[in-house]
Amino acid sequence: MDRSEPRTELAALREELDYHRHRYFVLDDPEISDAEYDALFDRLLDLESSHPELVTPDSPTQRVGAAPSSQFDEVRHDTPMLSLDKCTNADELAAWEERCRRLLDPDDELSYFCEPKIDGVAVSLLYTDRVLVRAATRGDGETGEDITPNVRTIPEIPFRLPDDAPSPLEVRGEVYMPITGFLAFNRRALESGERTIVNPRNGAAGSLRQLDPAVTAKRPLAMFCYSGAETAGDWQPRRHSDVMAALGDWGLPVNHRGSRQENLKGCGEYVEALLAQRDSLNYAIDGAVVKVDDLALRPRLGQVTRKPRWAIAYKYPSEEASTVLLDVDFQVGRTGAITPVAKLEPVFVGGVTVSNATLHNMDEVSRLDLRIGDTVLIHRAGDVIPQVMKVIESKRPRDARAVLMPSECPVCGSAIRKDEGEVVARCSGGLRCRAQRKERLRHFASRQALDIEGLGDKLVDQLLGEGLVGSPADLYRLTVEKLAGLDRMGVKSAENILAALDESKQTTFARFIHALGIREVGETTAATLAREFKTLDALIAADEETLQEVEDVGPIVASRIVGFFADETNRALAEELHGEIGIAWEVVDEELETAPLDGQTWVLTGSLEAMTRNNAKAALVDLGAKVASSVSKNTTVVVAGPGAGSKRARAEELGIEIMDEAGFVQRLASLGKATDAA
Ligand code: IVH
Repeated sequence: MDRSEPRTELAALREELDYHRHRYFVLDDPEISDAEYDALFDRLLDLESSHPELVTPDSPTQRVGAAPSSQFDEVRHDTPMLSLDKCTNADELAAWEERCRRLLDPDDELSYFCEPKIDGVAVSLLYTDRVLVRAATRGDGETGEDITPNVRTIPEIPFRLPDDAPSPLEVRGEVYMPITGFLAFNRRALESGERTIVNPRNGAAGSLRQLDPAVTAKRPLAMFCYSGAETAGDWQPRRHSDVMAALGDWGLPVNHRGSRQENLKGCGEYVEALLAQRDSLNYAIDGAVVKVDDLALRPRLGQVTRKPRWAIAYKYPSEEASTVLLDVDFQVGRTGAITPVAKLEPVFVGGVTVSNATLHNMDEVSRLDLRIGDTVLIHRAGDVIPQVMKVIESKRPRDARAVLMPSECPVCGSAIRKDEGEVVARCSGGLRCRAQRKERLRHFASRQALDIEGLGDKLVDQLLGEGLVGSPADLYRLTVEKLAGLDRMGVKSAENILAALDESKQTTFARFIHALGIREVGETTAATLAREFKTLDALIAADEETLQEVEDVGPIVASRIVGFFADETNRALAEELHGEIGIAWEVVDEELETAPLDGQTWVLTGSLEAMTRNNAKAALVDLGAKVASSVSKNTTVVVAGPGAGSKRARAEELGIEIMDEAGFVQRLASLGKATDAA
C-alpha cells in the first residue's frame, strides 16, 4: 500500500485548515466560506478514518476527542505563576514608578507596556517541538491542574506553531468568555430552562473545569496571551513588546489594544482611554496592567510575596456588588407595561451609587427566586440600567417576603392584565392612566421623536399635575400665560418652550410616526414606513398584508400598526396633529425617494465626543441611512471614534470608507444637518 499519498494530502489539509482557523478565529477575517471550511474538514475526517494510524494529536480533528477524565492531573509550574500588585489611582501608579526607580540605576531607561487586564482565568500553554502538549490552570501558582483536553477545544489556540518559534515555549494568558458568547449562552439557557452563568469570568472558569471536553467545546471561549518569555528555548527577546509581537506573528491570540508607552504619563492616558472603552469591548476587563517593557530590568526589580515589582494592575471600579433588596416597586411604562423595579440598599458599583435595578418582568423575578430581604448580586456596566444577577441564598433572612404582582395598576387602579403567551403584564387603563400619559408625552417630545427642547421629565410632570395637558395635541395649545403660571417658570422660559413647540411642527414623517408611540415601531421601522407610505393617509389606510410587504415588517409589527390606527382615539390624535395643529414634513415624493443617504448602511464605532451615539444615529436615519452594528461588505461608511477596534480594522480590510468624528460632523453639515440639533 502506498501511504505516501494520503500522508501528503493529510499534511496539506491540516495546514490549510489551520490557516483558515487562524484567519477566522484570530484575525476575524475568513477567506473561505463556512461551507468550504466544512468540506475541507470532512475530507480530513474521511482520510483519517481510513488511515487511523495517521491521526496525530495536532490534527484539527482532535479539538474534541479525548475521553472525559474523572479528575484533573497536577501540573508543577517550572516558573511560578505570579499575581499582581494593584493600584486604583494616578498617585498610586506614580508611587509604583518611584519605587521602581529607587531600585534601579539613574541611567536605566524605564518604558512600559500597557494591556487590558482581562477578567477570565489564567492558563499556561506549553509547546514542545512547536506542538501544544499541555495546558494548565494557575492553581496556587506552584501547582495547577492539567486541563489540556478542555483548552484544546478553544478554536483560537493553535495546536502547532510555525518553524521560527522557539522550543520549548511556555505561553501564558487569560482564557475568557466573550460578552456576546456569554449573552448568547444565557439566552439559550433561559430558553431551555438550564442554569445561566452569572458573569463571563465564572463562565470561563466553569467551562474549563468541565470533566467532559465535549461540554467545554460548546462554550464560547477565547484567549489572550500576555506572556511568553518564561520558558522559550534559546530565544532571548529584549522587551515585552517584542514578545507580544512575536506571539502574534506565531498565530497566538494577543490583545491588539496592548501598547508600548515611553513614560508614565502615557500609561496614565492609556488607563483612562481604556476605561472609556470598557463597555464597548467584547470581553470583561477589571483594569489595565502596566508592565516594565525592558525584560532585563525585571529580575533586578524582583518580587515581593509572589507579586513582581515590575508590573502593576490598575484596577477599575468593580461592575459587580452585593447589596440587600429592600422592596420591589412596580413602574408603568408608555404602553402600560408593568416593570418590577428592585429598590436596593444603596451600593457603590461601576463607579456610581446605585439604589434601583430593573427586574424586567415577573418571569425574571421567579427565575431569580427573588424575595424581599434577600442579599443580591448586582451588575452595572456603563450607562446600562443595573441588573440583578442572582440571589445569594445562604444569606436569605427567615422573614424574607415573596414578591407579588399587584392586581391593579399602582398609578390609576385599573386592572393589570397579561395576554396569553406574553411575559409582560400591562395596565389596562390606556391613556386614562397618568403614568401612560406621562410616558407617552415624554416619548413624543424626546430627541429621537419630535425633539422638543425643554420639555423634559419635570415639566411633563407639572403639566399633567396642573391638568394643562392630557395628550400630545394639548402641548400645542399651551400659551405663555398658562406656562408662566407654573412653579419656577418665567415668561422667558415659557416663550422658549413655545418656540420649541413651534419648531417641532416642521419635522420628518419618520419622526412623526415614531413619536406616535406605536408598539414595536422604533426609529428604524418608522423610517422605513415613512419612505414606503409617504403620507399619513396612506399609512392609516394600509392593511396588514400591505404592511407586511414592507422590508423588516413582520406579522406582529403589522398587526400593531393596524391595531393602533383602528383605535379611534389614536387615529383622531394623529390626524389632529398633522391636520389642525399642522405638524408637517416635506411630501415631495421624489425627494423622499432619494433621501441623501438612501440605501446606505453606516456603522458607528468607538466613542463620539460632540454628540451622543443616539443623536448620531437619529441624524443618519433622518437622512435615509440604515445604521448597523457590524461591518460587512454592504457597509457604506464606518464612523470610527477614539477606541474603535475590530470594526475599524475590518473596514480597513474591506476597503470601506472610514471617517473620524470631525469628518462625520462635516458630512452631516454638508447634508444640512447641524450637529447640535442632530
Ligand atoms: S501579567 C506577574 N497581564 O491577572 C504577571 N495578567 O492579578 C501576572 N491578567 O493571574 C500576569 N490580564 O490571570 C497579566 N494582561 C495581563 C492580564 C493578567 C489578566 C490576570 C492574570 C493574573 C492576574 C493577576
